[in-house]
Amino acid sequence: MNQHPGFFITGTDTEVGKTLVSGALILKLRKQGKHVLGFKPVVAGTYQSNEGQWLNEDVETLRIASNLAPGQLTLCPYVLDTPAAPHLVAKSKNIRLELDTMMRAYSEIQKQSDCMVVEGAGGFLTPLNDHEDLGNFAERINLPALLVVGMQLGCMNHALLTIEAIKVRHLKIAGWVANTLSQKMHLLTENIESLQSKIDAPFLGLIPQLPAAIQKPDNSPYSVEALEFAAQHIQLPNT
Ligand SMILES: Nc1ncnc2c1ncn2[C@@H]1O[C@H](COP(=O)(O)OP(=O)(O)OP(=O)(O)O)[C@@H](O)[C@H]1O
Ligand SMILES: [Mg+2]
Repeated sequence: MNQHPGFFITGTDTEVGKTLVSGALILKLRKQGKHVLGFKPVVAGTYQSNEGQWLNEDVETLRIASNLAPGQLTLCPYVLDTPAAPHLVAKSKNIRLELDTMMRAYSEIQKQSDCMVVEGAGGFLTPLNDHEDLGNFAERINLPALLVVGMQLGCMNHALLTIEAIKVRHLKIAGWVANTLSQKMHLLTENIESLQSKIDAPFLGLIPQLPAAIQKPDNSPYSVEALEFAAQHIQLPNT
């Protein structure tokens, strides 16, 4: 794959803030005048919009951050309805998640952008089918990885395992972001300092807990205000 600019956003787990960081990064890159588009290779879980359409929160966040109208572009080739492990949901519907299908959809979006922000699904090695995982997709797109660490007990082990897995696949690591989840972690600063000393990639910032007024409601995308809030707390990686 060529070196089209962009980032692959991975996380220490599912539900750690990858979508928040992806949306924030898109806004920051757009402010530099770039035509940035989001992408996600697979999502599992949909909600019904007021207009009766079945949508996915992550895809909607990426769409809104990318300044696209509803339905303007296909930012995700596999939208599965059940919120569970994607390869298992797919299997239960006799679908095989194919890297080639993901890559075709990715190339279509890439052609129309200056820069891509690709959100992973779950953690770095989420299975896609019996033989392939998301790490294989990351290798194929060959974008620098950005790791979102959801600051909670156990995150240090998850962060270091993820960094190792990224390095095994010879991908660049653009940096990492610490994200405050719903409950502020005990010894948060010390945990961040410890991670800084162990991760050989730039620390791009700590996103505090979102103020109550802009927290993401269930079954909805993030608001632009929430993404702007997160964007203020992170730096763009050096490219
Ligand atoms: N800084 C924050 N402050 C408050 N809530 C947060 C913060 N970051 C994430 N959350 C909440 O945590 C949940 C998961 O966040 P998000 O959807 O961004 O994670 P994700 O890693 O993209 O998850 P997935 O694996 O499903 O793609 C959301 O409900 C979100 O509102
Ligand atoms: Mg997400």
